Amino acid sequence: MKSKYQVAKNVFLDSIDISDYIELDSSTKAYTQLKHSIEKPLKMILLFGRPGTGKSILLNRLQDKLKYQKEIHYFATPAITEKEFFRKLFKVLTKKDLPHSTEVNFSALVDFCKELRGEREIIILLDEAQMYSGEIMEKIRLLSDSRAVKFVVALHQTDDEELIAKEHFQTRIWETIELKNASREELTVYVHKKLLKRNLFDIADSIKENNMKLIHTFTKGNYRECNKLLFTLFEICEYYDENDSSKLNESHIPQRLIEMAGLKLGYIHV
Ligand SMILES: Nc1ncnc2c1ncn2[C@@H]1O[C@H](COP(=O)(O)OP(=O)(O)O)[C@@H](O)[C@H]1O
Ligand SMILES: [Mg+2]
Repeated sequence: MKSKYQVAKNVFLDSIDISDYIELDSSTKAYTQLKHSIEKPLKMILLFGRPGTGKSILLNRLQDKLKYQKEIHYFATPAITEKEFFRKLFKVLTKKDLPHSTEVNFSALVDFCKELRGEREIIILLDEAQMYSGEIMEKIRLLSDSRAVKFVVALHQTDDEELIAKEHFQTRIWETIELKNASREELTVYVHKKLLKRNLFDIADSIKENNMKLIHTFTKGNYRECNKLLFTLFEICEYYDENDSSKLNESHIPQRLIEMAGLKLGYIHV
């Protein structure tokens, strides 16, 4: 028989499947803010936060929710080259494929966008924007000046990229929405809701307050790190379930197992 821990483990596989989206206070707040911002005559909106704070899943959620009401497009990762990026953008804007060997004429694209003003309003969600070059970002800004295209730019905040964010984007961004790591309460809601969504009531119940305290300490409330830790924790539980169930406690996850998972992932050292 398949161990229930195996099912629990797979709940925490890292994914940005919108059907797995969970309403959390902070994500709901950011979602509402984002939705509100794109209604305003803003040209660029910045979605900012450390890796693993839920930017991609939020952009996907926004796209999914608004796709029947608005022209809204999600660009997951930057194209390899500037040329490809503008081809992709060309297709979205003109609804036409560019003949294969042809390059996008950028100033013609800007003119095209100016013509669209008042006619169409296109929203482009640019994920992983820290990977776009300064030249591309400059061109994106020129396109957004047409006011026919709005950009939501999701940017990873890391210590040295904070600088890039300041210098490069500061004068061009009109509104900033920030996602942060979760508080202990919020992380608890996240973990429980994820398990309950798959009907894993007993397991959800067995994760107690002291367990969550340790999980929060190890992961600092980062959702991706939390996924990794719980995946590893349930992998360990699965192993004991099959080999030595005396190490398990059905009603309360032993702290020791969370420590083992933390050790394996390098959160603590022996
Ligand atoms: N509101 C949420 N609902 C469900 N899962 C979430 C939510 N926020 C974050 N996550 C989880 O956290 C992980 C990291 O989120 P992601 O959007 O990839 O972060 P980022 O793009 O900021 O690096 C995702 O794989 C997802 O499982
Ligand atoms: Mg992401």
